[in-house]
Amino acid sequence: MLVHAIPTNATQEFAADVLAGLTRPGQKELPSKYLYDNVGSALFEVISHLPEYGLTRADERLLRRHADEIVDRLGGPVAVAELGSGSGKKTRWLLEAFCRRQQTSYYPVEISRSALVMCERELRDIDAISIVGFEREYLDGLLEVAAYRKSGQRLFVLFLGSTIGNFDRPAGVKFLAEVRRILEPGDCMLLGTDLEKSTAQLLAAYDDELGVTAAFNLNLLARVNRELGADFDLREFAHLATINREARSVEMHLLSKRRQTVSIPAAEVVVEFLEGETIWTESSHKYSIDEVVETTRQAGFRCEAQWIDEEWPFAENLLVAE
Ligand code: AVI
Repeated sequence: MLVHAIPTNATQEFAADVLAGLTRPGQKELPSKYLYDNVGSALFEVISHLPEYGLTRADERLLRRHADEIVDRLGGPVAVAELGSGSGKKTRWLLEAFCRRQQTSYYPVEISRSALVMCERELRDIDAISIVGFEREYLDGLLEVAAYRKSGQRLFVLFLGSTIGNFDRPAGVKFLAEVRRILEPGDCMLLGTDLEKSTAQLLAAYDDELGVTAAFNLNLLARVNRELGADFDLREFAHLATINREARSVEMHLLSKRRQTVSIPAAEVVVEFLEGETIWTESSHKYSIDEVVETTRQAGFRCEAQWIDEEWPFAENLLVAE
């Protein structure tokens, strides 16, 4: 696989985002995209196997069951771009279905190099596939993929795993509209969305008994220590999962167990934490089926089909750029 590496200074950007998030007035926060360094990506892979967290398995079940139908609906030559490929396991079903019909180009776009490498290892044995990975932010990567498209080829964008849920709702529409602007009319997108479910089910999924999600969340502080030279004492922070009813989301926070100060040399800042104060690290918004149709319409797509998992409410939505 050819990998196009990140051209920017990632450490400086990380330091600037950490500084902005931990010194803003009110709720401290760290962007959820930083959860996915090598350790974080590996922990997320473990989360996807936990009995309490059914999201990834529902996504994969739907793709396994309906891959042929999805691919037949698209028809013709396509180039497949995936935003946030992760390990690539669940994409296999779709790519195999494409490759049974024609030679297929697959362009995973990922900010984590280790995830890109894992994804290539997982998928390279598929006959008739060519893989070119982009170590990029989603929209930057998609712009480059669009430039690779051959004439007569439709672009098919995969945005699976309900990553859209990690945007707040207005930001989600804005992101989808930006994707739409990069596409041509008739190009398609498969969007995975986690659907609303009970509070008990959500809290168990985001605060599992083994403590893997807690480790995934705390690793963000460990990453700030590793990459920015900070002195967060991980034992003095606790993972917290809460339901935000108004936003219809589950939030992850890191709660300071006592009053403490933390120095972050690369961001040139010392941050004070009160006892019980939290850093908001992620929101996972849950959707209703009708809302997906309306939200994607606002972004310039027509929802052509939806497949829903009954075991763990989750929808795969096939969108056509209008
Ligand atoms: C990647 N994303 C859709 C996951 C989610 O469910 O929001 C990340 C995650 N956070 C905690 N567990 C899993």
